[in-house]
Formats: sequence, structure tokens, C-alpha cells
Amino acid sequence: MYVPDFRFRRLRRTQTLRSLVQETHLQSTDFVLPIFVEEDIREPVVVASMPGVFRYPEDQLAQRVKAAWSAGVRAVILFGVSTHKDDCGSDSWSEQGLMARMLRTAKEAAPDMLVISDNCFCEYTEHGHCGMVAGDDVDNDKTLSNLQRQVVVAARAGADMIAPSGMMDGMIGAIREALDGAGFSHIPVMSYSTKFASAFYGPFRDAVDSTFKGTRASYQMNPANGREALAESMLDEAEGADLLMVKPGMAYLDVLANIRQNSSLPLAVYQVSGEYAMIKASAAAGVIDEKAVAMESLLAFKRAGADLIITYYALEAIEWLSQKHE
Ligand code: PBG
Repeated sequence: MYVPDFRFRRLRRTQTLRSLVQETHLQSTDFVLPIFVEEDIREPVVVASMPGVFRYPEDQLAQRVKAAWSAGVRAVILFGVSTHKDDCGSDSWSEQGLMARMLRTAKEAAPDMLVISDNCFCEYTEHGHCGMVAGDDVDNDKTLSNLQRQVVVAARAGADMIAPSGMMDGMIGAIREALDGAGFSHIPVMSYSTKFASAFYGPFRDAVDSTFKGTRASYQMNPANGREALAESMLDEAEGADLLMVKPGMAYLDVLANIRQNSSLPLAVYQVSGEYAMIKASAAAGVIDEKAVAMESLLAFKRAGADLIITYYALEAIEWLSQKHE
């Protein structure tokens, strides 16, 4: 009879032993909760493919942020769905615009909550692109000037962190210059540094009621490219990003692990709408155990190197973690 030399199973015998040698752990401060606010609605609107996710009227934002704080959430990222759209997204850099109002409301509701501003234009432009369109494409450098105005307004409104998601070249350098010039050198920038042109964003487009029918492939990354994925994040680090991000998550763990090996900055991952929707739908169909699969997916992000996880599961994950210790 063959007898193995080494026995991994020795350390797997009991739950206590297994937890003592567990390499990665989830905790409530790992999570960032996305919140959607829509102008001109009176009641929350459920996002059809994302059970548990709503677009909230502006006057319910304070309550949502307070409830999240009480539930243990320590960071939120705010998305606005504007009804004041134009060709360049100017509402997003108006002091009285939706983005500024959301940030002021959230900070006032829970002053200790880390309030992150998602800085993009797609929810503020008529055409739905993440910047200024010139000809048949998004004009990178004109978009950067608008982004500079937008982030200064966001910082003035109280944003604790700026998170540009538009994938324009040079966006981190431009933002850093604008923030520093306006007296916000203390405000960190979390770059959506490696963001792919992904089909997993489908339900988000539903969530923000996007009329967008085109493609973002001329600015977001090709899902096929791993080397370029690293280069994108490394350049953002060189431009002054304080945190890097990979988006989406589950299909891009190799990218996450590669950036983790090449940077010492904190690293975030975005478990996007399609990932959430797939878990919810298969749980509803009775084919998987929702809690087990969701928590396994979140743990995998930590193992691959993420420090922060932006996820629609934030509230449930914190609740599930607390049950574990009861
Ligand atoms: C665009 C943006 C996207 C998401 C957030 N901001 C993607 C896109 O439409 O290209 C997706 C979030 C999600 O799917 O959960 N700036």
C-alpha cells in the first residue's frame, strides 16, 4: 500500500484547526456599498435583474446612508442618475447639480462614513458616453478638462475619495493637478485603473436607465489583454493614484493577482452588476446556495490580492459575517 509522505489533511481535521490556519479573512471594513440616486422619482425603483438593489429618490439618500452605517458599512460609492443631461455632462460639475447634492447629503447624514464619489459623465450626458463626444469618438483631452472641474466640485461638496471610472488616458494626473491646485491635496484618488469593456455591466446599465446603445471599447480595455491590464494600473500609480482597481472581478482574478504582485498600493476590486445578478438568479432558480457562493466569491477577491471590495452584497455580507460569530 502506498503511504504519502506529507499529509495536508492533518490541518483540515476540525473547524477550529481550519480557521486557525486560514490565510485570508473577510471583515466588514473590506466592503464598499454602491448607492444609486435618481432625480425626479418619489419611491425607490427596484432594478429588475438585481433583487435587493434599488434606485432611490434623493430625499431617501440620507436614510440609506444612515442605515448602512448602522449595519456596519464604512464606505459607500455614490452613483447619480441625472435628468439634467446635455452633450458634455455639465450637471456633474455644477455646485447645485446632482453629484454635489448627493455628496453633501451623504456626508451630513453620516459624517464618519467614507463617501466615495464615482466620477464619470455617462449618467450626465445625453449620448451616455463617459466623456465629451467629438466626431464619432470620445475626445480624451476635452473630457479631462471637464473631469478636473467635476472632481473639484465633488471635493468641495465633501467627497472623501475621488474615483474616476471613465478610462480616459491621463485622468489621474489631470485630477491630481486639479485637486492639488484647489487645496485638496489631502483627498485620495482611487482609480478605476484597469476597467474592461465588459458584458458584465449589463444590469448596471439597466440600473442607471442608460439609453446607451453604443460601445465603450475605444476607452475601456479589451478583456483579452493581460499585459496591457497591468500597464494601465502601473501608469495610474505613476500619475499619482492612491488606490488601484480592477473591474469586473470574478472573471479577472488573474489581473488582480498580477497587479498585486507589481504594486504596493491598496487594491480594490469591483464585483459588478452582472456578477451579482448571476448569483441572485441562480440562487432564485434553486441551483446554488446564495450565501455560500457569494461569500466564496468575495473571499476569492481577498485571496487574489484585493484590499477593498465594491459589491452590491456589502450589506448581506456584513450580516452573514456577524452570524458566523454568534
Ligand atoms: C461607467 C460605469 C460602469 C459601471 C459603473 N460606472 C460601466 C459601464 O457602463 O461601462 C458598472 C457598474 C456595474 O456593472 O456594477 N462609468
